Amino acid sequence: MAEKWVRMVTAQTPTNIAVIKYWGKRDETLILPVNDSISVTLDPSHLCTTTTVAVSPTFDQDRMWLNGKEISLSGGRFQSCLREIRARACDVEDKEKGIKIVKKDWDKLHVHMASYNNFPTAAGLASSAAGFACLVFALAKLMNAKEDNGELSAIARQGSGSACRSLFGGFVKWNMGKVEDGSDSRAVQVVDDKHWDDLVIIIAVVSSRQKETSSTTGMRETVETSLLLQHRAKEVVPKRIIKMEEAIKNRDFASFAQLTCADSNQFHAVCLDTSPPIFYMNDTSHRIISCIEKWNCCEGTPQVAYTFDAGPNAVLIAQNRKTAAQLLQKLLFFFPPNSDTDLNSYVIGDKSILKDAG
Ligand code: ADP
Ligand code: DP6
Ligand code: CO
Repeated sequence: MAEKWVRMVTAQTPTNIAVIKYWGKRDETLILPVNDSISVTLDPSHLCTTTTVAVSPTFDQDRMWLNGKEISLSGGRFQSCLREIRARACDVEDKEKGIKIVKKDWDKLHVHMASYNNFPTAAGLASSAAGFACLVFALAKLMNAKEDNGELSAIARQGSGSACRSLFGGFVKWNMGKVEDGSDSRAVQVVDDKHWDDLVIIIAVVSSRQKETSSTTGMRETVETSLLLQHRAKEVVPKRIIKMEEAIKNRDFASFAQLTCADSNQFHAVCLDTSPPIFYMNDTSHRIISCIEKWNCCEGTPQVAYTFDAGPNAVLIAQNRKTAAQLLQKLLFFFPPNSDTDLNSYVIGDKSILKDAG
């Protein structure tokens, strides 16, 4: 092995927002969920993670920086992703740079990882999804792992559950899976980003502050204390998943919007049913819901769907550009950024596909 080389790979991955939510694990270590979920992958030019991973014989330990600050790699999640990709690493040769790594070298080599989110971290905009999907994708390229995105999805899942869905563009389903080792708990694409390309997504960044209860802690407490979660996972979600897949395939906006709003509201109801209750939405979030509900009701058919992850920020999905323009007009009138609400910005984007910047 040559002494002073560095091999580097950079990747960029968009975040995804669930329209049928994942909330609750049946296995905490492997990150196996209690129900299937469906999400839409956002446009990487708006909300995305960029991660550079590097390997060099001069590195003496694995290290990670998030948004410029070094973070600890202890705790199982980063270790699980690194272990799984290392186990699949292959030979790498770069004659120009004089790099030759054979399979067994990967056990001794250390990596440095630097990641940057271009949107608020840990604020309920799925930073863990874009973050771990990007990390696993970049590490796989660095180590020349030959796995396809489906297999990488099952690895990204072990970093953060929602991350398994960010390996694909368009609408994506995470099958909860049945087998004990979790190998069938991975994401599949429902339709690609071109299937329903007139949808427009507007994100209202109500607060970019870090949430008080992380998704991991929140869902653990829900599993331990909420009876409503059992009903949701067993009775409600399986039926909604079938209807949502149908609505997406048929581009049936009315059903899509009805299911999306209902599922977001039930997810937050389950948080409220947790002991002690978890409040992810705030007053501004509730006022945005009322505004959309009134509008949809007045028109007699849904114009816009809303969904809120584990945070107060609203993800609004408009049927087309015309409705999106009307929505933005309403939002800017009723919720002007930096007014007496704590709303600070709007992000507008289309759906999009994973881009390999490797
Ligand atoms: P969010 O709603 O933003 O997904 P979570 O509570 O689910 O919030 O997860 C936040 C955690 O995800 C962070 O504390 C960090 O550990 C991890 N994370 C966020 N961004 C990245 C990234 N780019 N690379 C690796 N891990 C990340
Ligand atoms: C509300 O994937 O962030 O965004 O698996 O513990 O990392 P961990 O949790 P995470 O949970 C996401 C919850 C959600 C809904 C969703 O994305 O499906
Ligand atoms: Co998350």
